[in-house]
Amino acid sequence: MDTYILGIESSCDDTSAAVLKNNKILANIIANQDVHKFYGGVVPELASRAHQQNIIPVVHRALDVAKINKNQLNAIAFTNGPGLLGSLLVGASFAKSLSLALNIPLVEVNHMHAHILAHFIEDEQQPANPEFPFLCLTVSGGHTQIMLIRDYFDMEVIGQTIDDASGETFDKVAKIMGLPYPGGPLIDKMAREGNPHAIKFPHPKIAGLDFSFSGLKTSVLYFLRDRLKEDPDYIEKNKLDLSASVQHTIIEILMTKLRKAAKETGIRHVAIAGGVSANSGLRQAMLRESEVSGWQVYIPKFEYSTDNAAMIAITGYYKYLKGDYAAQGVTPFTRYS
Ligand code: KG4
Ligand code: ZN
Repeated sequence: MDTYILGIESSCDDTSAAVLKNNKILANIIANQDVHKFYGGVVPELASRAHQQNIIPVVHRALDVAKINKNQLNAIAFTNGPGLLGSLLVGASFAKSLSLALNIPLVEVNHMHAHILAHFIEDEQQPANPEFPFLCLTVSGGHTQIMLIRDYFDMEVIGQTIDDASGETFDKVAKIMGLPYPGGPLIDKMAREGNPHAIKFPHPKIAGLDFSFSGLKTSVLYFLRDRLKEDPDYIEKNKLDLSASVQHTIIEILMTKLRKAAKETGIRHVAIAGGVSANSGLRQAMLRESEVSGWQVYIPKFEYSTDNAAMIAITGYYKYLKGDYAAQGVTPFTRYS
């Protein structure tokens, strides 16, 4: 018998609903929130309000696109954290109410777990599923980790950032350059036309498989402060080379540790996941590594890189198959554990 799962994602500033038939995607609807653009980051109060406005239309649209009736659903999966509390509460409350009304199981999903399991969504435009065990570089606005994935539910953090996340670094550098939030995609776009070797930024020296990005942010800040004293138009004149050089440094920091992890574990199946995995430079670096080192690389379809409910639904699907349901009293959590 087929299993239909509705997934709900509302952890940050995207309201999303997706429908899966087993592991196959039927619909993945995402409503982005433009309201944060000029605040330099997500404004929690505005995000919760926008989720409240978006959630019902987004779920309706997902059911329409999937061409199923809500009574066909077998379970509702929702993001229970980490994320912004007010945002998570909108998705959690909606999922709880709908599961009660339809009398079907409720499944709670960890957002970062879901970024990784997004690789298992069956979609004609997404390449084959990763083979266990594999390494996953999980890079988003709030997280930067190297995970060792042994199974759908057996995973270990073997390296992580000791300060800023890589997505946060893209966004903070963009903010220094006067770009709107989120800056990551804008830097990516400009970097394509710039020289990645134009400006040399220092690389951190951190032990083991951990990362650090706060030094890079500070050196960009000081570098620009000095240049702007000489030429107030420095950023505008050099934005392409600046973007390319910063992006190149972030990717080199990430890839150096990922190579180290592959060497230490002997694992040659390597995936990337999370918002920053949408970055064209990081995708290219992975493809290059697959040629040079013979890695089998897994790069998620663009739509499954940044926040989406399809990844929540696929994680919910595997938890549903295990009978791992949530109680109505479950409460969202804000930080990763
Ligand atoms: O996974 P995600 O959508 O949300 C979180 O869970 O945080 O990741 C968002 C992050 C933001 O920092 C955004 O700037 C970054 O991913 N991002 C990118 C790109 N697309 C999104 N960073 C670099 N290049 C991109 N193309
Ligand atoms: Zn995310």
